Amino acid sequence: MIYSTLATYYDDLVKDEQATQAWVTWIERHKSACSMLECACGSGEITHALALKGYTMQALDLSQQMIDQAKAKDPTIPYYCQDMKDLSALGSFEAIACLCDSFNYLLDPEDVITFFQQVHDHLHPHGTFFFDTHALDRLAEFRQEWNETGEFCDGTKYQWSIESEDDWIYQDFAFYTKAGLIQEHHLQRVYDPQWLKTQLEPYFEIESIDTDFTHPGICPGEKYFYVCTRKETK
Ligand SMILES: C[S@@+](CC[C@H](N)C(=O)[O-])C[C@H]1O[C@@H](n2cnc3c(N)ncnc32)[C@H](O)[C@@H]1O
Repeated sequence: MIYSTLATYYDDLVKDEQATQAWVTWIERHKSACSMLECACGSGEITHALALKGYTMQALDLSQQMIDQAKAKDPTIPYYCQDMKDLSALGSFEAIACLCDSFNYLLDPEDVITFFQQVHDHLHPHGTFFFDTHALDRLAEFRQEWNETGEFCDGTKYQWSIESEDDWIYQDFAFYTKAGLIQEHHLQRVYDPQWLKTQLEPYFEIESIDTDFTHPGICPGEKYFYVCTRKETK
């Protein structure tokens, strides 16, 4: 299961307060405080930051261990351990978000379409859908394997490698814990923004697509940021 052992070390590896603030600022620019569902919320850094700004948050993630990390930060937010492809147990929201590459864990084009349908059906009329994805440039960047090694405070050493092939990104984690070696293998898919636009159109008006938060349109960078408004007819 991905994000089981990684959950314990996720914030140590990737927590970045400036980046969290950049996501919050991006969202605030397009929608003031409202009811929001965050899909694939991970350890809840952005969830918690949005709650502090007055957004009424609910959040979900597939990994119970990530949910546990998030709950420890803010036990007042309702968190659900579930798949973002099925929101049927949840109500409707003024905004739904899926942030920080989480979208790229949708591995099948059919999953993307299902997710867009689900988000549409669980947004209020004219509600807002925020998501970001890896940029196509990431595929070129990781053709050459990238590696990081290090050690956490509890003495666990780790190796983290990222490599791409075709439209796939492979991330491999090795944790050398006191109990022995634990490995996690993650697979992400990078979608062409032109294809995503076509799939969004039946459900949403695309308000903006930016690269790396502030550069309008699709241009060289790490991530594309989509802001969409629910269409009332499909
Ligand atoms: C890169 S992390 C990002 C977490 C968080 N959004 C953040 O800003 O740090 C990706 C998260 O997506 C979650 N995830 C992957 N596939 C999912 C799915 N189908 N439904 C819900 N969560 C999923 C993982 O468990 C993980 O917590």
